[in-house]
Amino acid sequence: MTGLLLKMYLKIMKKFRFILMGVGLLVASAGYTQAVTWSVVAPGVWKAVIGKPEAYDLLKAAGAQPRTEALAKIGTATFPLSQADINGVVQDGKTALRFPLQKDEQLYGFGLNFQTVHQRGKILQLHVDHYGGKDNGRTHSPTPFYVSSNGYGVFINSARYLNVYAGSGVRKDSKNPPVEKDRNTDKSWSSRPYSDAVEISVPAGGVEVYVFAGPTALDAVRRFNLFNGGGPLPPRWGLGFTQRVKSLYTADEVKNEAKAFEDKGFPLDFIGLEPGWQSKAYPGTFEWDKTRYPQPAQFVKEMMDRGIRLNLWINPYVSKNATFYKAITPFTGSHTVWTGEVPDLNMPEVRKLLYDQMKKSQVDINVSGYKIDEVDGYDHYLWPDVATFPSGVSGEQMRQTYGMLNMRYSAEMFKQLNKRTYGLVRANNGGGVSFPYVLYNDYYNHEDFITALINSGTAGVLWTPEVRASKTSEEWLRRFQTVIFSPMAMINAWSSGTKPWSYPDVANQVKELALLRMQMMPYWYSEFAKYHFEGTPPFRGMNLEPGFKQEVKKEVAANVNLEENPYAEAAAKEIKDQYMAGEYLLVAPLFTGQTSRKVILPKGKWYDFYTGEFAGDGEILTVTPGLDKIPVYVKDGGIIPMMKPMLHAPKTGEVVDLEIRHYGKGAGNYRLYDDDGETFNYEKGEYAWREIKVDNVQGKLKGTISAAVKGKPNTVGKVMWRFMSK
Ligand code: GAL
Repeated sequence: MTGLLLKMYLKIMKKFRFILMGVGLLVASAGYTQAVTWSVVAPGVWKAVIGKPEAYDLLKAAGAQPRTEALAKIGTATFPLSQADINGVVQDGKTALRFPLQKDEQLYGFGLNFQTVHQRGKILQLHVDHYGGKDNGRTHSPTPFYVSSNGYGVFINSARYLNVYAGSGVRKDSKNPPVEKDRNTDKSWSSRPYSDAVEISVPAGGVEVYVFAGPTALDAVRRFNLFNGGGPLPPRWGLGFTQRVKSLYTADEVKNEAKAFEDKGFPLDFIGLEPGWQSKAYPGTFEWDKTRYPQPAQFVKEMMDRGIRLNLWINPYVSKNATFYKAITPFTGSHTVWTGEVPDLNMPEVRKLLYDQMKKSQVDINVSGYKIDEVDGYDHYLWPDVATFPSGVSGEQMRQTYGMLNMRYSAEMFKQLNKRTYGLVRANNGGGVSFPYVLYNDYYNHEDFITALINSGTAGVLWTPEVRASKTSEEWLRRFQTVIFSPMAMINAWSSGTKPWSYPDVANQVKELALLRMQMMPYWYSEFAKYHFEGTPPFRGMNLEPGFKQEVKKEVAANVNLEENPYAEAAAKEIKDQYMAGEYLLVAPLFTGQTSRKVILPKGKWYDFYTGEFAGDGEILTVTPGLDKIPVYVKDGGIIPMMKPMLHAPKTGEVVDLEIRHYGKGAGNYRLYDDDGETFNYEKGEYAWREIKVDNVQGKLKGTISAAVKGKPNTVGKVMWRFMSK
């Protein structure tokens, strides 16, 4: 009996081995052309699983929840690419991905780049790092998401360093192969032949991939943002002005600083304390320094009574002098950073120890937020890729997600108290759209800061072109002009000790700008609400703007017909120095040394923001605005709700009168957002949208605003209309 069974068993195994071998061959040969199966995961969003994805990825680290209802509002769509042309295959322990490209297509995204907007043709390694002066993929948010001018987006959900060939490789099976040319005789020979595919190498045996439908590139971005929970809704005070003081300031010096702002009539909503608030820093104790801040609770209260909140600098590396040091060490990584322990924030034990300390010592006495520094790089002080962490997440995966983990769990601490926060961070990644943190860095190139602001709109992040110090008052004012039109209006004087009035010959202009920031609060707040509820990035490039179609560089350069295509001249080079701020504004900054610049207006009429005068329509302007002005234009029918120039953002329930500005001759509408400005009650429906309308009634403009919604927050007082264009 036993012998017979054994015989049968061996017979089956023999057969089975043959079958197994057959399957193996099938997989191997299918490898080259393996089709990818897509399933709808939200309206206009598809997911494919290739190979065996890793347990830890960007979306898991971020913990983001899709805003399904908002996605449904954008509507369903058909799959935006040819599925047969998408390929995913596991080979050599890595996953190779391929997506098709059309001839006239341009790509944007692949994270927070600083020098380029057009990404087609680029070879990048997406890697969280402090930006080092080159767009090579190493940046504060190397978001593995790209969006096409053809109106779709692609996201790779991997917490690994990804090698991206964004239209550089030329395949033998290409549908549009480049034509062979003889370099000896043909001048049009190119060292970079045409490529019709984006190829990505993921160093793992599988990965999840997402595709986002349009129809426009902006729609694809909106779907991506909503899929990741939508943008953050900052508290109103977060959109006011913020000053970061010198590192070793004492409580008295901070109070004096606040008083100086008040005395001089400069707005101020929150002050940032730099490393010196802590008893020890680099690594930190997460505890107040008793000599500089002997009575923290009383100090924070005094500041709050003045209408000024506090934001505290930290980096997450724990000093031996921290009270919870011993308790935390079993839950930290194998390597130290500046001799500090690196908390593995995937471990609940770590989170409890760290956030209990921050809560007890700071948040419970009303500290309003944090600046989370040095979670990006550089390599020479951060843990190496060989580092290990108790959660089993690798050194590489931790590097790619550490900023997100820090944001996620610190934000959760505030949320548990039903308080919104708005802070700063130096690393983010795909999935981290909804965190209430703004990126910044030490790089300080003004032009590149603006390009980063443009690219933030396709990277799912916020970015501030912070002002620190300047060589001249001209530079100071030029930098100030742009930070006012950004997600965080900030001076970072941690080292320089500068104040807004530090350059006396431009102090008045700086003050006016800071007050303009405050006047525009109803606009900024509504635009952030649109980021949250609808996914539209409040700051974004012209490439996402309807009526602004950019051509592929070469084709335009070869055939410039300015009559047919008024922006061809400028489109021949990428547009990286002007951007959209909210629904209606186009901002065209000037940089030190410039007295004039070109501004490219998309099709449609545009008006001067300050005067309401007609500026142009689908054309290139050359403007000479003088040092005092940053050129800003408003779309025809544009409505900008403004308030009086208050020194602090309106408090919860504070009623403010509105001045509603209308530009152009056309009818217009605007949705004004309102809520308590500080809590998460909006998640329970405690908010309202008011419809603002301007109609042209027999040649006369007339404005109306819908009535306050019964039982919902309403902070709108009297309404004054200003029709800016005569
Ligand atoms: C840098 C940071 C600066 C400042 C400084 C304090 O890493 O980028 O903004 O906070 O640390 O040491």
